[in-house]
Amino acid sequence: MLTTRDLTVAYPTGGPVLHAVTLTLPGPGVHALIGPNGAGKTTLLHTIAGHLTPTTGTLHLHGHDVTGWRPETAVRAGVALAPQGRRLWPSLTVAEHFAATQPGGGRPDQWPIDDLLDMFPTLTGRLGHRAHQLSGGEQQMLTIARALRTAPQLLLADEPTEGLAPIVADQITTVLRELPARGVTVLVALPHVTAAAQVADTIHVLAAGHLLGAAPTGAAASAALRRHLTLTHPGDDPAEPDL
Ligand SMILES: Nc1ncnc2c1ncn2[C@@H]1O[C@H](COP(=O)(O)OP(=O)(O)O)[C@@H](O)[C@H]1O
Ligand SMILES: [Mg+2]
Repeated sequence: MLTTRDLTVAYPTGGPVLHAVTLTLPGPGVHALIGPNGAGKTTLLHTIAGHLTPTTGTLHLHGHDVTGWRPETAVRAGVALAPQGRRLWPSLTVAEHFAATQPGGGRPDQWPIDDLLDMFPTLTGRLGHRAHQLSGGEQQMLTIARALRTAPQLLLADEPTEGLAPIVADQITTVLRELPARGVTVLVALPHVTAAAQVADTIHVLAAGHLLGAAPTGAAASAALRRHLTLTHPGDDPAEPDL
């Protein structure tokens, strides 16, 4: 459904951060993007979501060239970002977050709030609470629920378990795993393969702005990915210790 081809991205203040990244999400499922801090995971997700414009390369969604699109166009097309660090509106309540989030463009289909609350029952008792009054886990749930409110086909979830207690992280992971059955493909950025293996069907490895390889989750696939990494970057393999 989504393909980036030779995507190079730079911030105005510096040189390229992503180098000729070619990534394909063939279809439904949960796909993980892993790599150490600074690898470029957030930059790639922001580029797909239209917050950054690539210097070179292309982005295709369902075969259509959408390179350089704007964030609101991406949302209308069914691509939603749950950003790293949550980026909620601190003084708005949970209910106000839902009310303020529209897919736009006259697209009528929104996820009903009741469905979102079924996925995140904890938020039911928090509808009148302001975002800054929520726990970290609740804030993360709201971040994902707000993104789902726009009825996306593709959810970009950037480090959704960062800083959370394991039991809360597991709740988030469980919800992400359920999304493909509801018609939502997920691309989730995570720090390492251990976290990715719990949630993802395929794992893409990014290091220093280069996509090193991708493989289905599982022991055999990990071995294949390890071989690929060894062939691609002999003696220089930042992802290897995690595999
Ligand atoms: N707004 C920015 N301006 C300049 N450089 C940035 C900016 N945001 C991130 N970078 C740089 O881009 C690189 C990739 O960052 P990022 O995409 O946040 O990686 P990750 O999400 O994998 O930790 C890092 O070297 C980071 O310092
Ligand atoms: Mg990041």
